[in-house]
Amino acid sequence: MLPYSFYKIVHILGIALTLVALGGMTVHALNGGLKLENAARKLLIAMHGAGVFLILLGGFGLLARIGFAHGSGFPLWLWVKLGLWASFAIVAAIPYRKPNAGRALLVALPTLAAAAAAMAVYKPT
Ligand code: HEM
Repeated sequence: MLPYSFYKIVHILGIALTLVALGGMTVHALNGGLKLENAARKLLIAMHGAGVFLILLGGFGLLARIGFAHGSGFPLWLWVKLGLWASFAIVAAIPYRKPNAGRALLVALPTLAAAAAAMAVYKPT
């Protein structure tokens, strides 16, 4: 198995890719841009897809490295992180459907990322 530090870098690369992609879509839509008009559309979609995948890959690699066995129950902090991860995956559908939510999204996304980080750092129950 690969080392803990490797999975952490993969995890953080996934987070960075996801947030940059969602930010790019959101600002474009907020400025009145249509989906097909975004010059970086395909790149952003690819970055978002790769990002959410790498968050999960890195996350489960980290879990294995900190000693979680297959079949052991997930603690609450991990369920919260999985829920936040799912919202990072789904939220790509929002910018062009609700461009007016763009400003709120730009603030909410890094805040949710910090909440997910806090779950790993403090591991409440
Ligand atoms: C919303 C997406 C997520 C964000 C922004 C995020 C953020 C982070 C950050 C910043 C760290 C480093 C904390 C530290 O160095 O102490 C971390 C660690 C970790 N994350 Fe995530 N995470 C996310 C989703 C997930 C998911 C889905 C999983 C599980 C599949 C997961 C499992 C872990 C584990 C196991 C650690 C290491 C905990 C430890 O070292 O004790 N994360 N996460």
